[in-house]
Amino acid sequence: MPLVNTKEMFAKAYEGGYAIGAFNVNNMEIVQGITEAAKEVNAPLILQVSKGARAYANHTYLTKLVEAAIAETGLPIALHLDHGDSFELCKSCIDGGFTSVMIDASSKPFAENIEITKKVVEYAHDHGVVVEAELGTLAGVEDEVQVSEEDSSYTRPEEVEEFVSKTGCDSLAIAIGTSHGAYKFKPGTKPQLRFDILEEVSKRLPGFPIVLHGASSVPQEFVKMINENGGNMPGAIGVPEEQLRQAASMAVCKINIDSDLRLAMTGTIRQFFAQHPDKFDPREYLKPARANIKELVKHKLINVLGCDGKA
Ligand code: G3H
Ligand code: 13P
Ligand code: ZN
Repeated sequence: MPLVNTKEMFAKAYEGGYAIGAFNVNNMEIVQGITEAAKEVNAPLILQVSKGARAYANHTYLTKLVEAAIAETGLPIALHLDHGDSFELCKSCIDGGFTSVMIDASSKPFAENIEITKKVVEYAHDHGVVVEAELGTLAGVEDEVQVSEEDSSYTRPEEVEEFVSKTGCDSLAIAIGTSHGAYKFKPGTKPQLRFDILEEVSKRLPGFPIVLHGASSVPQEFVKMINENGGNMPGAIGVPEEQLRQAASMAVCKINIDSDLRLAMTGTIRQFFAQHPDKFDPREYLKPARANIKELVKHKLINVLGCDGKA
């Protein structure tokens, strides 16, 4: 099976009241952990690559790893550019075999966001590639860009119809209270996504796939593994999984998860070295890290996204 784009995946997910997991990949063990989990539960997948991941691991290495995962699993997998910040970056990924790209011009004024998104859509659609765009801005850190809480803003439902019809984008990321990274809500406050905004957006865009970024739930067992082994992450709080499940049952068809994978990998490796300070074979610490990524992803696919058995 070749790489697929997300059109059919999203149509089925919308209809079935579940979401596809979009997991960020940066190296072989992460690709293997995610895809082995998906294979076991027969789930479709989106593997996504950020600008930073591409700079770290190289475009060709990442695409070949994903091709290897398809050969090993036979699953429908889409290869997606996460947070493309320019037409040139999107074009380079489209030319280099990606089946889906995100153009994130959400920090630009509305008219400029429309203009750049439309340009990417025209090029992508000519090449059979789908485009995710974003309206509203999330707080948090991605690559070198840090968006403070004051500068973040919820999506304005009254803008979505004009945006989608003028750009021709295939899916839309919206801001309803999630944020990037491991510190999403203030300690002591009650994490609550704005389902009223999601509801209003989906009323205005019937049948249209919505995307949720910043959707890690920050499992406390991994935060604990980090903190007990020399780390310092007090107050790391994620999105409650029941709220993600609720979003998946609504118009949200793609849920982005990266920080949880990082926590699972790093927590496991920190614990390994605390227990085996003299070991130095990378396979010995990467093996349990990959196994914990696999368990985490299996849990997400079955209990949070509800996409097990849907490949
Ligand atoms: O939303 C951002 C993703 O977590 C990717 O992060 O840009 O550090 O690779 P990155
Ligand atoms: P998290 O930081 O919550 O994992 O979000 C990842 C993301 O949105 C990637 O685009
Ligand atoms: Zn994101």
